[in-house]
Amino acid sequence: MSKVTVVGAGNVGATCAECIARAEVCNEVVLVDIKENFAEGKALDQWQTAPINYFDTRVTGSTNDYTKTAGSDVVVITSGIPRKPGMSRDDLISTNAKIVKSVTENVIKHSPDAIIIVVSNPLDVMTYQAYLTSQFPSHRVLGMAGILDTARYRAFLASELNVSPKDIQAVLMGGHGDTMVPLPRYTTVAGIPVTELIPADRLEAIIERTKNGGGEIVKLLETSAWYAPGAAAAQMVEAIMKDSQRIFPCCAWLTGQYGINELYLGVPVKLGRKGIEQIIELKLNEEEMALLHQSAAAVREVSEVLSKIS
Ligand code: LAC
Repeated sequence: MSKVTVVGAGNVGATCAECIARAEVCNEVVLVDIKENFAEGKALDQWQTAPINYFDTRVTGSTNDYTKTAGSDVVVITSGIPRKPGMSRDDLISTNAKIVKSVTENVIKHSPDAIIIVVSNPLDVMTYQAYLTSQFPSHRVLGMAGILDTARYRAFLASELNVSPKDIQAVLMGGHGDTMVPLPRYTTVAGIPVTELIPADRLEAIIERTKNGGGEIVKLLETSAWYAPGAAAAQMVEAIMKDSQRIFPCCAWLTGQYGINELYLGVPVKLGRKGIEQIIELKLNEEEMALLHQSAAAVREVSEVLSKIS
């Protein structure tokens, strides 16, 4: 019996659970929340879509009872408070670090062999928190951000060029924040380098919009996004459960790759049943490498705050 747990039945967690259930990549999805009956209610509603949306993944809910999550193959942690307008992701650190720590402690008690995917913000540092608390090997603790950020970049490019978003492939690296590094040199439209299809100033504007893509939605909705973040985390779960060896940008523990040591940061990785099967090292040019190191420095600064508060 395969099982995936999603902790946090808020907008992101619920969307993620629904995407996983519809993709039929496991037998059961367990949704957990601290709010009484919240996860049970959402799970029941989702399970009642099964005859309509035609899936057979069981969806169950639990109010903070982690025995129901026992033996999970993958656990997605979405718990924590979201941003309000005017807040940066880093403003959430002290509240969300405590939440992620306590959730991780509960998760590992019942699923000692799970792969943990962190979605809570500030993403790179919350992934580090889950790694520290779980003491799992780093290939089993990773964060979701790159798929979301590249999805925004790809969606903006699809609109600009009036092409299918399916045809846009891109790599984006660095932290999940304003210092993220979209890489035009590794962006193609059906194999055509994007730089041949779009003027440099338009591409630059799209890169800037991508970096602020989360904030743009916070401004519109007064809370953070959930459809794309939830779908992105579910895509990681699918690649792991199907052992598909897909390559995605994910937040991973670096041990010298790209000249960066002991830091969780977004890089291209290969995902399979072991979690991170491989970290892919691109041959970045000087400018790209400088931007990546700038982003790493910003993430390291927030990671150091974590060691002071925990
Ligand atoms: C965003 C949040 C989830 O980028 O970080 O929308």
